[in-house]
Amino acid sequence: MTDLAALELDLINAIGAATTVAEVEAVRVAALGKTGAISGLLKGMGAMSPDERREQGPVINGLRDRVTSAIAEKKAGLEAAELDARLQAERIDLSLPARPRRKGGVHPTMQVMDEMIALFAEMGFAVAEGPDIEDDFHNFTALNFPPKHPARETHDTFFLRPDPETGERKVLRTHTSPVQVRTMMSQEPPIRIVAPGRTFRKDSDATHTPMFHQIEGLVIGRDIHMGHLKTTLETFVARFFELDGVDARFRPHHFPFTEPSAEMDIRCDRSGGKLVLNEGTDWLEILGCGMVHPNVLKSCGIDPDQWQGFAFGMGVDRMAMLKYGVPDLRPMFEADVRWLAHYGFSAFAAPNPSSGLS
Ligand code: DAH
Repeated sequence: MTDLAALELDLINAIGAATTVAEVEAVRVAALGKTGAISGLLKGMGAMSPDERREQGPVINGLRDRVTSAIAEKKAGLEAAELDARLQAERIDLSLPARPRRKGGVHPTMQVMDEMIALFAEMGFAVAEGPDIEDDFHNFTALNFPPKHPARETHDTFFLRPDPETGERKVLRTHTSPVQVRTMMSQEPPIRIVAPGRTFRKDSDATHTPMFHQIEGLVIGRDIHMGHLKTTLETFVARFFELDGVDARFRPHHFPFTEPSAEMDIRCDRSGGKLVLNEGTDWLEILGCGMVHPNVLKSCGIDPDQWQGFAFGMGVDRMAMLKYGVPDLRPMFEADVRWLAHYGFSAFAAPNPSSGLS
């Protein structure tokens, strides 16, 4: 027969010595679990004679009740202590200073790209895209750059390693004009698109970075002429700079993919160290443009006797610098949060033509 007093003492000591809820639980299983010591005693009562049971029953039940309540009491105490320790450890010091406001913002290039897209969208232009890595056909050949023509060199092209099988050298696109080609080859005219995106040239100084952004425009329709080009671009430039109109001139130029070609300048005054548009005797170059060359239309499977169009391209970063007074192009891509905090825009002020652009 088990010495009940010794068993009780052992259990009460074990409960007293437990320092965690898990240790108390281990004692409970050893005493009152399926194969526990007290459970064994309770089961043994079934085999007792009625007299024995009458005598032993209250003793064993009393032992069970005392051990059960000792366990419950110890557990409650330990749980309270554990909660206290946790509250202490996870205490929030409300006197600590708050975190500084995040300095993120919308980059001026992206802001200006959104402004341009909003203005052209209102004039019925869709947005088209093309890959940053281009092939010679889309970047040069289809745009009427003759093979070995010096114009190819003027683009300071980044070439990729030649393909081991074909020897073909892909390029980082030097302008967004290849998107014209991709659009004309995949869509039926009439076409009215703008193609904003990254462009790349081996060039670096205060006004050039190896990666920069351009936006390309293309309109193809029947009987499209220079008048459409002029009105579209003058309307765009006036609205972009938030002016009632612009004093513009279209200066003859050369691009292989347009004929005639022009550069659009806006009258300006730089005499006060500040740029003022529509005044003075200087001219500010804004963009390149022209009527799409018949060879380009033919390369893209469009009949130049049926369809004509105009195209234009401009530097987005440069337009951002002009509009928002950014003096140097290089820091635009150095990812310095102080620069962004100064020149950036709120992400909540997305430009749209009805509520204002900037
Ligand atoms: N692709 C020219 C450049 O990179 C810009 C340009 C000029 C695009 C005239 C045009 C255009 O579509 O008609 O400098």
